[in-house]
Amino acid sequence: MLLEVTDLWVSYGRLDALRGVSVDVDEKEVVALIGSNGAGKTTLLRTISGLCSPRAGTMHFRGQDMSMLSPDQRVALGLVHVPEGRHLFPGLSVRENLELGAHRVRDAGLRRKGWELVMDLFPPLTKLVDIAAGLLSGGEQQMVAIGRGLMGHPRLLVMDEPSLGLAPLVVETVFHAIETINQTGMAILLVEQNATKALELATRGYVLDLGQVIEKGDSASLLGSPRVAEAYLGGVLAG
Ligand SMILES: Nc1ncnc2c1ncn2[C@@H]1O[C@H](COP(=O)(O)OP(=O)(O)OP(=O)(O)O)[C@@H](O)[C@H]1O
Ligand SMILES: [Mg+2]
Repeated sequence: MLLEVTDLWVSYGRLDALRGVSVDVDEKEVVALIGSNGAGKTTLLRTISGLCSPRAGTMHFRGQDMSMLSPDQRVALGLVHVPEGRHLFPGLSVRENLELGAHRVRDAGLRRKGWELVMDLFPPLTKLVDIAAGLLSGGEQQMVAIGRGLMGHPRLLVMDEPSLGLAPLVVETVFHAIETINQTGMAILLVEQNATKALELATRGYVLDLGQVIEKGDSASLLGSPRVAEAYLGGVLAG
């Protein structure tokens, strides 16, 4: 396993946001994580990338216990988080934002390869490299945020709601990009409100509710599960 999270508990004061969550991701796999608002999805990703501390549980990445590692040390191992809300530096150009994602990559050839991958995935960015990120549309900012993650050549990309708030055409671009990224050999843990699309892309998925995994399995079985269909594929979360 590339990532193995076992029996994770995370609390904010008295609130248990995660209550014994176990999730794993294999090399080169896309795994979807779905669930309603407040289920704990963001908390799980933040804990995996080292931004929240668990109260209990274990986390291994590439076989190594990473619970004591800083976020930066996790990035160095190849674990990169594309956060919800994008978090770009608005006053820096697209180029500068992207290069921040490659600050650990010393090899010039590898940096160039990262740059080319990002420009191939998101052609609109080629014309925007010198523009301040804060001036871009939401969709373009999301492309930069994903691109910045890719520039570090991660083994695992954890993505928090990459399609949130985007126009339908841009949603297509983002999902297509995720598929292409995966084909380059990167594993992806994908949190999405757009449960149908996420499960169609993923090989497996987990359903989180009130801080617990309430269902898991291969995508086809989750897409066919009446409980999942009713709660996540029907109403507001339909894609
Ligand atoms: N910094 C915080 N302080 C206190 N409570 C928090 C904090 N962040 C999240 N929570 C609470 O923890 C629970 C899980 O939140 P989390 O953001 O992980 O859910 P989510 O599944 O990502 O939801 P959404 O779909 O709305 O993004 C919620 O009850 C939320 O209110
Ligand atoms: Mg969230």
